[in-house]
Amino acid sequence: MDYLQIVGGKKLGGSVKISGAKNAALPLIASTILAKNGVKISNLPDVKDINTLLRLLENLGAAYTYEGNEAFIETSGLEKTTATYDIVRTMRASILVLGPLLSRFGHCEVSLPGGCAIGQRPIDLHLKALELMGAKIDIKNGYVLATAPDGLKGAQILFDKITVTGTENILMAAVLAKGKTTIINAAKEPEVTQLCQVLKDAGVDIEGIESEEITIYGTAGELLDFKPVEVIPDRIEAGTYLCAGAVTNSKISVENVEPLHLEAVLSKLTQMGFGLDVDRDRITINPAENIKPVKIVTKEYPGFPTDMQAQFMALATQAQGPSIIEERLFENRFMHASELMRFGADISLQGSVATVFGPKKLFGADVMATDLRASSALVLAALAAEGVSNIHRIYHLDRGYERLEEKLNMLGADVRRLKE
Ligand code: UD1
Repeated sequence: MDYLQIVGGKKLGGSVKISGAKNAALPLIASTILAKNGVKISNLPDVKDINTLLRLLENLGAAYTYEGNEAFIETSGLEKTTATYDIVRTMRASILVLGPLLSRFGHCEVSLPGGCAIGQRPIDLHLKALELMGAKIDIKNGYVLATAPDGLKGAQILFDKITVTGTENILMAAVLAKGKTTIINAAKEPEVTQLCQVLKDAGVDIEGIESEEITIYGTAGELLDFKPVEVIPDRIEAGTYLCAGAVTNSKISVENVEPLHLEAVLSKLTQMGFGLDVDRDRITINPAENIKPVKIVTKEYPGFPTDMQAQFMALATQAQGPSIIEERLFENRFMHASELMRFGADISLQGSVATVFGPKKLFGADVMATDLRASSALVLAALAAEGVSNIHRIYHLDRGYERLEEKLNMLGADVRRLKE
C-alpha cells in the first residue's frame, strides 16, 4: 500500500492547474448509457473513481478508450444490466447507473451500496422516486432489483431531502421515460447543472435548470444524440489547493477554475483574513496578517460544501481563536478530527458541531486517511506541521485527487509517495 511522506513547514508559491470535477464526470459517464452515439468526454480527471466507473460500463458491454484526460465511450453494444458487488462496494457513486440502465432496458440489478465511512448514506430517496415513475423495486441478496416492463412514466417527484446523486439518477431515468417528470427540491450543485445541460444539448426538453424544480419531457425510449462534453473544473480540488495556500500562509494561484462555483468557500477565506484576487478562471490567495477564526455550517449548494469541511477544520487550527464548524449533511463526518489532533490540533466535538481551538503549532505525525476529503485535511495539516508526517491509506486520496503529490511539489511542497 502507498503512503505519503510530507516534510512540512515550508512556504508554498506558484500556481496549480485544477482538473475536471470527479463528481461532474461520474454522472456524465453514467449518462452515456442513454446515448445512441459514441460520446467524447474531455477534461476528465485521471483518478481512481473515473476508472472504476468506466470499468463498470465495460463489464456491462460498453467499449471505451481513455487517454490524456479524454474518453470516448460507446454504449451501443451494452447488453448486461447487472452492476456487481465487487465494483459497487469500492465506489458508492456506481449507483448512478441505476436510473439510466432501468430507463433504457426496463430492468436492472445494482448491488446495494453499503454504509460508508462518513455515515449511513441510504439510497431510499432514489428508489422511492423510481417507484413513483412506475418501477417495481425489490431488494434481494444485497441487490436492488428494478423492473419497469412497460418503461418508466413521468411523475412528480418531491425529494424529502436534497440529494445530489438522487437528483442525477432521476434526471437520467426521466429523459427516456414516457411523459413529463418534475423534480421538486432538486439539488442545484454545478455538477447537477452540467448533467442537465448535457442532456438538454443531447435533445431532451428540460426546464428549470439550476433551480430547485426541474421539469424533464421524456423521449419515451428514444436514445439521445450526445454532443462532445467538457467536464467543468473541480471546485473541491480548487478549494483544497486554496486551503493549502492558506494553511501555510503562502501566496498561490489555482488556474482553470470557475470562481462562481466557489463563492461560499471564497467568502469564508476572505472572512478569515486572506486576500483573494479573482479573475475569470484563476484565483490567487494572499497570506493573511492575522488568520481569523471562522464559523462554518455545511449546506447544499450554493451553501458551504460538506466536501470542504475537513479542509477548513485543518485550516482553523491556525486561526487566532476558536472556530466553530457544524456538519449538517452527514452524521459521521468528523473522523479527521481525531487524526488532526495527532498533529497537535485542539478540537472538541459535540454531536454535529466541532470547536477548533486555534492557533496551535502542529508537528509531523503518522496519521491514517479515513475518507476522501478527510485525507486531504491530513495533507493540509502535514504541510503546515513542523517535521515529517506519514499519511497512510492514501487510496482514499487517489479516488479523487489527480497527481496530488506532483501538483503540491510544483507549489514547493516536499511530498513523496512511498510503499508501506
Ligand atoms: C454527493 C457527492 C458527495 C457530496 C454529497 C453532498 C457525488 C458522487 N458525491 O454525494 O461528494 O459529499 O453529494 O454534497 O456527487 N440521503 C438520504 N436518502 C437518499 C439519498 C441521500 O437520506 O436516498 C441523505 C444522505 O444520507 C445525506 C443527504 O441526503 O445526509 C445528502 O446526500 P446526497 O446529496 O445524496 O449525497 P451523495 O449524492 O451520495
